[in-house]
Amino acid sequence: MRTVVITGGAKGIGRGVAERLHRDGENAILVDRDEAAVAAAAKEIGCAHEVANVTDADGLADMFQRVADRYDGIDGLVNSAGLTRTGPTATLPLDDWQQVIDVNLTGTFYSCRLAVEHLVPGASIVNVASIAAVRALPERAAYTATKFGVVGLTRVLAVEWAERQVRVNAVGPTWTKTQLIDDLVDQGKLDESELAAKMPMGRLAEPADIAGAVSFLLSDDARFVTGQTLFVDGGYTWSG
Ligand SMILES: NC(=O)c1ccc[n+]([C@@H]2O[C@H](COP(=O)([O-])OP(=O)(O)OC[C@H]3O[C@@H](n4cnc5c(N)ncnc54)[C@H](O)[C@@H]3O)[C@@H](O)[C@H]2O)c1
Repeated sequence: MRTVVITGGAKGIGRGVAERLHRDGENAILVDRDEAAVAAAAKEIGCAHEVANVTDADGLADMFQRVADRYDGIDGLVNSAGLTRTGPTATLPLDDWQQVIDVNLTGTFYSCRLAVEHLVPGASIVNVASIAAVRALPERAAYTATKFGVVGLTRVLAVEWAERQVRVNAVGPTWTKTQLIDDLVDQGKLDESELAAKMPMGRLAEPADIAGAVSFLLSDDARFVTGQTLFVDGGYTWSG
């Protein structure tokens, strides 16, 4: 049984990954800043949880230390904590820009860096990027910049940590049915059926679709795969 820490594990893609790993008999540890939501999700799944904010380096370091002490090291890390702020770039509040950078990019950097000393040889990190790492999404400048950044960070860490026998990959989901998308639909910033029609396979992704790819990248089947971004997109990335 491998111990896998999942940031942003209370909801959406992170939770979908935890459900999949738990079903496969792995020791999934949910980590989230939302204390009530992460406790509830962990109870429903039947796994352990920790409360931490990925922008708080000290709190994250303590959390990784606790988990590593309790389970004798860490075998996997999935960085799914993330958020988005949308709007015309010319008027995007600077606070919105900073918040997205802090969570999606700096948070992923902190998490990788603070976990690495606890990762056992053969461990695997999977960062959750996005199709926004390769497609220009108007009114999502901050989000897009962070996802390009996450792919770049993934490549550098893959090369740097190969000698530790730690692999670092990313997944690039297309629009996935989670709270993040529901919020944009509620705000009138997204039309779900219009979006589904743009997907060559005719639907949005489900968290379970992303969890399958994450599970592969964590597994021994991917033992010689590192520095890659696996797009889980129903064909959208390379469509017109
Ligand atoms: N939903 C999509 O369409 C989609 C597509 C591509 C990529 N992604 C990426 O997938 C990841 C997860 O998104 P989601 O759709 O599951 O979102 P979500 O809102 O459903 O879940 C995100 C989780 O992250 C947690 N979180 C946010 N900030 C945090 C912080 N500072 N510290 C700790 N936890 C924090 C939230 O509390 C929440 O539980 C994000 O990185 C997002 O950019 C989502």
